[in-house]
Amino acid sequence: MDHTVYDKRRYPIVDVRQGYSQWVRTYEQTVEDEMDLRLLERLRTVDWSATRRVLDLACGTGRIGAWLRRRGPAAAIDGVDITPEMLDVARGRGVYRTLSIADVRDTGLADATYDLCVQSLADEHLPELGPLYREAGRVTRPGGHFALVGYHPQFLMAGVPTHFDRAPGEPVTIRSYVHLLSDHVKAAHAADWSLLEMDEGLVDETWLRKKPKWEVYRGLPISFAMVWQRT
Ligand SMILES: C[S@@+](CC[C@H](N)C(=O)[O-])C[C@H]1O[C@@H](n2cnc3c(N)ncnc32)[C@H](O)[C@@H]1O
Repeated sequence: MDHTVYDKRRYPIVDVRQGYSQWVRTYEQTVEDEMDLRLLERLRTVDWSATRRVLDLACGTGRIGAWLRRRGPAAAIDGVDITPEMLDVARGRGVYRTLSIADVRDTGLADATYDLCVQSLADEHLPELGPLYREAGRVTRPGGHFALVGYHPQFLMAGVPTHFDRAPGEPVTIRSYVHLLSDHVKAAHAADWSLLEMDEGLVDETWLRKKPKWEVYRGLPISFAMVWQRT
């Protein structure tokens, strides 16, 4: 479902590549670790330190690669993203083995290569989830995992799309789609993934200390994590 059905902000909408090529200048200062790293920390079904080959889908500026490197120092981490400017920042971190400009739905990488795929905060930019789960399934070895963290559909439905300030006082929205959690289950099952674990993060005191204006969203789920295993 297109996010505009729920959008209460009504900012101008830009496409993904254009949006992130501009957001890259302030991205690291605006994305809160509570969104994704806090959920990744809580997952119990992935042995991060034992994982040898990892693919970071929609790696952006490399926040997740840096987190993975701390958890599993020996892992070879590859990253793909469609926004070259985001990849340039990721390259500067020096934590990835390879970085390529590619769509998460068609990475061009070899079959059954990775022990683990991760994706954080990007599924809301895909109109359909099937191609993502199929591609992650193709490049993951049998028995391997896919850890996905997403912007919670309930928060998008509360009217707050993915947005940033293109210039001071000039917010824009990056085109987004709302996927129900059941949409994830259907798409993943159709691509032979089994759900091992799921978690959700709420707007709580930690969030409100950083964003006092979000009092109106107190208690709403803002992000979710799912761990899938390739059957
Ligand atoms: C919110 S950022 C998340 C970046 C990183 N995973 C993180 O957690 O900081 C979303 C990223 O998804 C990328 N992206 C969106 N759609 C994509 C697609 N179809 N294929 C590859 N990358 C995509 C964007 O270019 C952007 O870098």
